[in-house]
Order: sequence, then C-alpha cells, then structure tokens
Amino acid sequence: MAAPRRKLIAGNWKMNGGLAANDALLRALVAGLAHDGCKVAVCVPAPYLAQVQALCAGTSLELGAQDVSQHDAGAFTGEVCAAMLKEFGVGYCLVGHSERRQYHGETDTLVAEKAKAALAHGITPIVCVGETLAEREAGRTEAVVKRQMAAVIHTNGHCISEIVVAYEPVWAIGTGKTATPEQAQQVHAILRAQLKAATEHSARISILYGGSMNAANASSLLGQADIDGGLVGGASLKAADFLQIIAAAR
Ligand code: PGA
Repeated sequence: MAAPRRKLIAGNWKMNGGLAANDALLRALVAGLAHDGCKVAVCVPAPYLAQVQALCAGTSLELGAQDVSQHDAGAFTGEVCAAMLKEFGVGYCLVGHSERRQYHGETDTLVAEKAKAALAHGITPIVCVGETLAEREAGRTEAVVKRQMAAVIHTNGHCISEIVVAYEPVWAIGTGKTATPEQAQQVHAILRAQLKAATEHSARISILYGGSMNAANASSLLGQADIDGGLVGGASLKAADFLQIIAAAR
C-alpha cells in the first residue's frame, strides 16, 4: 500500500535573514513554486513571523517557527509560546533541533513537552532527532534516536500521529557531509518501526531527512522508501537551490 504522505520540504533559516533579504528570498520562492508540488514551509526567526506571514498569504508556502516554549504564558523572559506563534499563522514548529539540544541544554523530556505545547495549539511540531559523530562511531545511532523518539511518544500519547519527525545526524548538519541515502533510510526505517509500534496511525507521520541536503543530493535521498521530505538549512537561504530541492520532491 502506498504511504498516504505528500512530501514536505521545510527550510530552516536558523539565525539568518533580514527584512530586505527575506523579502527577496520569499518573492523568488513564490514565483518559482509549482502549483501541484510538495508541501513547502519556511521556519524563520521569530521577529520575522509577521513579515513572512504577509508574504506567504495566498500562496502555498507555509510558515514555521524554530522553537517554542513548553509553557503557555507567564514569567519566562525571552520565550515565545505556542499561542503567540498561532496568532501569526504558524503551522509548523521545529522542536529539539540539535543546536537547541547542544547550545541550550534541551533534554529529551523538554523536547517532548515542547512538542506537546505545539500540538495543543494546533501547530505541527517537527521533532528533530539524530546522533553525534561519536555516538555513530560507538555504534549507538539506533539507541540514541530511539531514546530521543521514545520521550516524545511517551509524553504525547495518541497525538503522536500528528507530529512530523526529522532525522538529522548531527555530524551532517552544516558540514557538507551528507548521510548516504542508505544510511539515512536505515535510520528512517528504525524510526518508522518505532512509530508503528506506538500508534495505528503511524502511516500519517512524515519522517524528513536533514543534514547538508542540497540540490545535488536531494533526489537520491528523497527517493528512499521512508524519506518523506527534507529539513534544509543552508540551501534554504538560496531561492534557486531551495527550489531545486522542492522540485526533486515532487
Ligand atoms: P544544513 O542544516 O542543511 O545546513 O545542514 C540542516 C538543519 O540544521 O536543519
């Protein structure tokens, strides 16, 4: 049976952009998007949500955020909650990106709570998992991604079928070193099996690959059975490159 999943390509701008650059990038993207293509989202820095919301209005481009607080409101200086994101039309939110885990000490439990906060407000969390180079070399890839995923499954119960997963090997992020399609597919299959054991609706869950995805390697990665799209960092900042990846996902 064919999987009922339309591919999703999500751009992760990270801490990049500016009013003028965003405007140029989004206008070029919108002009180049095919009507019958895959789903496309851009996860932008919070200050630009209003600008990007306006530029995406009436287009098929969806808006995403890069992080969300696990709390609903209150004395949490600097944080942004899911209800605020929702007011700006945010449909997706990255959760547990390895840069958040690494530089902001986000634990598996916190990541699971953030996913829950997003879901509670009708925002699809893109839950990022992935092993470091040391973990891969120690043969711990499967154990690490399963542990990261298990926390999210545990906290989110039957809502788990509403998430998107992104497998991003940390050693491949921003390094130009991509996992081979076979390496990525192997981990995606592990995650798929874990999700299948957790919910009867697992066929709905898209599992994206991220880590140096670019115009040259996108189609071989996206051709794998369990790779349902991409989470694209660097290459999402250049309209021509991002459009080529989007075209490869059709
Ligand atoms: P990259 O980043 O495509 O620049 O490797 C991917 C990500 O961090 O989401």
